[in-house]
Amino acid sequence: MSANRIIIFDTTLRDGEQSPGASMNLDEKLRIAKTLEGMGVDIIEAGFPIASGGDFEAVREIANAVAQSTVCGLARALAKDIELCAEAIKPARRGRIHTFLSTSPLHMKHKLQMEPEQVHEAVIKSVALARNLCDDVEWSAEDGSRTEHDFLCRCVESAIDAGAGTVNIPDTVGYAIPNEYADLIAMLFNRVPNIDKAVISVHCHNDLGLAVANSLAAVQAGARQVECTINGLGERAGNAAMEELVMALRTRQDLMPFQTAIKTEHITKASRLVAGVTGFNVQPNKAIVGANAFAHEAGIHQDGVLKYAATYEIMTPESVGLRESKLVLGKHSGRHAFIEKLKDLGYSLDETEVNDAFKRFKDLADKKKDIFDDDIVALVDDEVVRVNDHIRMISLEIMCGTKHRPPKAELELRINGALKACSATGGGPVDAAFNCVKKLFPHEAALRLYQVHAVTEGTDAQAVVTVRLENDNESVNGQGADTDTMVASVKAYLNALNKLLANQEKSSAKALSA
Ligand code: KIV
Ligand code: ZN
Repeated sequence: MSANRIIIFDTTLRDGEQSPGASMNLDEKLRIAKTLEGMGVDIIEAGFPIASGGDFEAVREIANAVAQSTVCGLARALAKDIELCAEAIKPARRGRIHTFLSTSPLHMKHKLQMEPEQVHEAVIKSVALARNLCDDVEWSAEDGSRTEHDFLCRCVESAIDAGAGTVNIPDTVGYAIPNEYADLIAMLFNRVPNIDKAVISVHCHNDLGLAVANSLAAVQAGARQVECTINGLGERAGNAAMEELVMALRTRQDLMPFQTAIKTEHITKASRLVAGVTGFNVQPNKAIVGANAFAHEAGIHQDGVLKYAATYEIMTPESVGLRESKLVLGKHSGRHAFIEKLKDLGYSLDETEVNDAFKRFKDLADKKKDIFDDDIVALVDDEVVRVNDHIRMISLEIMCGTKHRPPKAELELRINGALKACSATGGGPVDAAFNCVKKLFPHEAALRLYQVHAVTEGTDAQAVVTVRLENDNESVNGQGADTDTMVASVKAYLNALNKLLANQEKSSAKALSA
């Protein structure tokens, strides 16, 4: 690998998933992992196998499914963690064990309640064990940015001697500032005698909004692996955003002549997938992937961009895979044109799926005059999330407005094959519809998020609704799309409920249904 090649280590599925509310099911994790692989991510941190049976299964299934990227699992400095992690990554063509231990005085004293000598010994023991089980081992000095330099140098040197090929220096609490963090990395290069035997990695949290700046400063000081997540998802204020890191490197080659293997044209697709699955919408003015990131509203800017794009554009929308949502098809478009459009959008559906999607496209064309690329994406994705649902909506009627007080909903559901119907009122139409669901399928899950966004412009746009439900400390996100916001809302609620049921079936946890 060339000296200026930056290894991209994506931890959306591990650190990203640790954000409260961002949990994902196995299918969603697999879809994200395949997307990361397709975009050229070098290492995918797929989960923390000891954390739960679901995490173990996800790491193992991703290890099975991914061929191009290295698949990594996280483990504390404990034999049971490391052994289980090795088991989970076993099917991987290229697997990595990532083991970590805190090294800062604060963490050693209050979190670990261990003396520095004990921590140092545990570093050597854990890395050596991991290295016995896997050729590719990464060691992280948790809270590395607040660790005393002498002790950090000692632990890094010992971890490398014990077999770590990658050593990561996290800014775990997002406390560092760029020149301080760069100096820390430079200090390690100056003082650790065997540092040339390992790749130095950085992992920055965004508590002060400096995760990307700190990561780039560290790269300039010699770090060659950067840990990051799509959309900057992650604990608290999140991790360094992959799209920002990669595009900063690509755009400022004059000052940062480093390369990654990321196909930047995949960025928008990956960002939308992660936002959709987690329900963590991207703020409109977010760099690279926000809805306004390439919008030039002010007249003077528009004029400049029209005359010569580079006047105000430092990168092109196409370079991050942002295509104008083209007017594609209409009521009279045929099956052949529809299939071509699916291919163009990157879908490969079997015949039954195509037939089903085509039928739903025709239904949509009856309700909406102009159908755009984004409509087709919403339509296909809407079915993907619903394939194994036990509870499905058959019909929904809503009576609301100033004359219908209180708002009333009538709902028909098919629950495990049986048709059930009821009506209910509520404070508003959404409340009334959700009350119907609770009547037909009594449950204890609490609604934690209800969010709507329009797929395209115009009042006939499809609405995509996200619903987050929580039951017994487990939270899931459901999605639904329809030109009728109320129908989309019930679809999203049912999708979340179906996910809780699927998880319940798997774990035989406390019964969801009352
Ligand atoms: O933030 C952190 O220190 C981590 C480690 C486990 C790498 O996530
Ligand atoms: Zn972290």
